[in-house]
Amino acid sequence: MKELIRSLTECFGPSGHEEAVRALIRRELPRGAETRVDAMGNLIVHRTGAAGGRRIMLAAHMDEIGIVVTHVDQKGFLRFGNVGGVLSMPLTGGRVRFAQGITGVIGLEKLEDPSRVPSLDKFYIDVGAPGPADCPVRVGDVACFNRDFEEVGARIVAKAMDDRIGCAILLEVMKELGRSPHDLYFVFTVQEEVGVRGAGTSGYGVEPEIALAVDITLTGDTPECAPMAVALGSGPAIKIKDSGMLAHTGVKDWLLRTAEAGGIPCQREVLVRGTTDASAIQVSRAGVPAGCVSIPTRYAHSPSEMVDYGDVEAVVQLLLRALAEPVDIG
Ligand code: CO
Ligand code: ZN
Repeated sequence: MKELIRSLTECFGPSGHEEAVRALIRRELPRGAETRVDAMGNLIVHRTGAAGGRRIMLAAHMDEIGIVVTHVDQKGFLRFGNVGGVLSMPLTGGRVRFAQGITGVIGLEKLEDPSRVPSLDKFYIDVGAPGPADCPVRVGDVACFNRDFEEVGARIVAKAMDDRIGCAILLEVMKELGRSPHDLYFVFTVQEEVGVRGAGTSGYGVEPEIALAVDITLTGDTPECAPMAVALGSGPAIKIKDSGMLAHTGVKDWLLRTAEAGGIPCQREVLVRGTTDASAIQVSRAGVPAGCVSIPTRYAHSPSEMVDYGDVEAVVQLLLRALAEPVDIG
């Protein structure tokens, strides 16, 4: 699964530009899978159930955070805005990659007050252009952060682990899942990072009876970080609440019960800031019971998002167990 995670995370796919990720996922689908792509670009894979099951939608987002060029200055440096939740702190000296393959280096102006975290308008991108006339990049071009996938002990690190790790998990579940009573929709969504937009339309279209997002969450296990009862290596995090939704209690209990029955250690997740595709699916149409299985992640929204490989495998095992049996959400 690591080679799949490598190719998914190294793929180019800022929000609204998910084509390359979608093409890669299509190549990895089981032979003969029934697929469609909706008007927004969500990739919807359907797997018919045996009988007596529910219509269950699983969602993982294909897009990643990035930048968009707002103007090119007189010397040929690019100024940019954010696509999704871009943080200033990890930017300086980093590199971005545009769709055409052009690399840019991120620089920072001299600051009046270096003790304050600079806003994005203090940064620029240098694509090696001698002047604006020779600049190979235009206003509106988007780029992703450029960083290789690496293994660090039991952990794996990459850009866009949010949420290509969720995409990799859905692909793995599709490959490994045996007979299931459920009518399953594996949905690879677009534009999550700019406001869970693809989840809203695909949730409406699929009209699931139960929905699960598979996405990353934060941890409280690094030096002087905000307290949070989630740690790397302690297993899947079962969402109870985040800033966009209260998980359906029946769905949450189903996941916790499944983990316990399977002897899969898991964690209870209350995320103070941030949300997932589940928040949009939950309020689509007349409402959908929704929950989320999260992968604990350090350094989220930086170019080096870190997860524990054992946690990733445990999320796959939890989903395989949950989808193999009839579901009771009360
Ligand atoms: Co994110
Ligand atoms: Zn995410």
